[in-house]
Amino acid sequence: MSKFPKDFLWGGATADFQYEGGFKEGGRGLLSHDYETDGSLENPRHHTMKRSDGSIIKPRSSFFYADEVPEDAEPVFLDDAYYPSHKAVDFYHHYKEDIKLMAGMGFTVYRFSICWSRIYPTGEEEMPNQEGLDFYKDVFEELKKYNIEPMVTICHDEMPMVLALKYDGWASRKVIDAYVKYAKTLFEAFGSYCKYWLTFNEINAVRGFGPCGTRKSDGYTRYLADHHMFVASALATKLGHEMVPGSKFGAMYAMSELYPATCKPEDMFHHLEARRENWYFIDTMARGYYHNYAKSVWSHHGFDELDISEEDKKILFEGQLDFVSFSYYRSNTTQAGDPWFNVGGSPNPYLENTPWGWPIDALGLRYCLNEIYDRIQKPVFVVENGMGAIDEADENGYVEDDYRIDYLREHFKAMRDAILIDGVDCFGYTMWAPIDLVSLSTGEMKKRYGFVYVDMDDKGQGTLKRTPKKSYNWMKEVISTQGENL
Ligand code: BG6
Repeated sequence: MSKFPKDFLWGGATADFQYEGGFKEGGRGLLSHDYETDGSLENPRHHTMKRSDGSIIKPRSSFFYADEVPEDAEPVFLDDAYYPSHKAVDFYHHYKEDIKLMAGMGFTVYRFSICWSRIYPTGEEEMPNQEGLDFYKDVFEELKKYNIEPMVTICHDEMPMVLALKYDGWASRKVIDAYVKYAKTLFEAFGSYCKYWLTFNEINAVRGFGPCGTRKSDGYTRYLADHHMFVASALATKLGHEMVPGSKFGAMYAMSELYPATCKPEDMFHHLEARRENWYFIDTMARGYYHNYAKSVWSHHGFDELDISEEDKKILFEGQLDFVSFSYYRSNTTQAGDPWFNVGGSPNPYLENTPWGWPIDALGLRYCLNEIYDRIQKPVFVVENGMGAIDEADENGYVEDDYRIDYLREHFKAMRDAILIDGVDCFGYTMWAPIDLVSLSTGEMKKRYGFVYVDMDDKGQGTLKRTPKKSYNWMKEVISTQGENL
């Protein structure tokens, strides 16, 4: 038998500030990402800010760099800069069309993030913004029409601007209260529509001003902010379980597979320690406590201790996640002497790279699924996977994206083997991103992932017309045959 299990969920995933747009509509407040420019692999994205002496600074903000932001710097929009989150690809006005396209492929799940500042514009209002709630209610209704199960990311790498500026974002416990209030509002408003919730996106990778709202990006600030997010996640999980019967909670981890560069004992031991940089997050949130090696992780980041109260320990234990979800795009290779936060890793001579230099490694996905399930013994879900590529559209917007089909086919085979041969309890897959959207790391449009082409360029020019690519029909066939016809 080579079919995926009958109830396996198939779908796609998106994030609000890369997809939704409508940044000044419907009472939405500002996010830290709204001040982030476009960029490229060679020219990192940056925030635009003004200092008290009137000078403009541009701290780098991409996933790969998180520059410190001086205390007196305030975000400012510059006339000659392009800010991709403002329009993104305008899901705000295209949601009916986009969801219909997803349904056309047979999606049974759609993972999307709710924009925090659309619900609480500053993060601090007493009452939520009704227009924001109405927008997402329409989205949920549209999904219901096509029997698509929603999966909501409560916070996808983002922070209402006011919370960042007033409290230094997740460096402050005040933001825990704001987050829990926001989560409670979502459970009240959408609990009847939504069973699957992810408290945070790629919590093991975020740091700095853009995603966390912190001005500093040193090790201590980062891990303190992470601790506050752990507590917020656990409180929201406990509350969600009480308010939404049958709800299931996960959080999302960036889980490239990680290989030691050689079998040299020093490389092997470095690999063990580098992998703990990821386990630290999954163990604490899915098993509910800081593990024995936490101090050693902290010491790699230049500090000895985090002050964790007995009350917080209790919260973490009571708010354990129900499943583990993760993104998988690539594998990395590491060796003794590599820095601890090393997204790119050392080169792997056995693998080909995407045009953005990400090693393509389908077997690594099977490895990862096994590794997580062996260790945590809770169901797993692949909530992001896909290939960023340059698509050449013809005059009708049609793209022959065989490279994307090849990438996905190999990853689906690996996932199928993990489930059917290795016995991993993986209950779904959401491809990043079913409709082309803005890249997180580079802010480009030309790094495309979708089954559907969107007519828009890196500077936001284009008709926004949606056109299914060759991979669209291929995916439809995959879903309708439960992955038997790959
Ligand atoms: C994940 C994020 O890191 O990877 C997404 O959750 C992101 O927001 C995706 O878009 C792909 O990365 P990129 O930089 O190619 O958009």
